[in-house]
Amino acid sequence: MAPTDPCWLFGYGSLIFRPAIPFVERRPARVRGWTRRFWQWSTDHRGEPWRPGRVVTLAPTPDDICWGMAYRLDEAAETILADLDIRERGGYIRMEVELELDVSVGKAPDASAAAPQTVLGLTYQAWPGNRNYAGPAPLAEIAAQVAEATGPSGTNADYVRDLHTALEALGAQDTHVAALAARLPG
Ligand code: BEZ
Repeated sequence: MAPTDPCWLFGYGSLIFRPAIPFVERRPARVRGWTRRFWQWSTDHRGEPWRPGRVVTLAPTPDDICWGMAYRLDEAAETILADLDIRERGGYIRMEVELELDVSVGKAPDASAAAPQTVLGLTYQAWPGNRNYAGPAPLAEIAAQVAEATGPSGTNADYVRDLHTALEALGAQDTHVAALAARLPG
């Protein structure tokens, strides 16, 4: 998937709290029809092949919204994306999404409000069937896996907590992230 022009990259996971990419500007954003889920194994960042961690992907959900952060990249977008392709090579691929920028974070879409600015952007998506797809599991099972896993980028528990803290700072509601963070020890 080629960069859009201008190139907006939508982050809904670690890109929210640790972008580690150069960008021109960033704006809170949402995508409609998607839900954030810890349904992807991480064997290279927040886990290891023998004890994988769980990281987020987007699950298609017609009536839901996923809040995140949109980054406008500069003219080096293709290089930045190529680096991200390598960083996220564990099953993610680029996907085009429609982004709503500068919306009232945490609020449901309001038909009477002024229309949000909508742009075409890119995000990374791990589809069912990729080699690291973990899929749904009971929350207690996901929490136990997260609590155990650690990898070169840090513990899986810190990943969940940092994401939860960043979403709270944005004012975004995500009951799946909040429920998982609440189950993690200390
Ligand atoms: C993110 O932070 O949005 C993200 C980055 C790479 C893969 C999946 C999600």
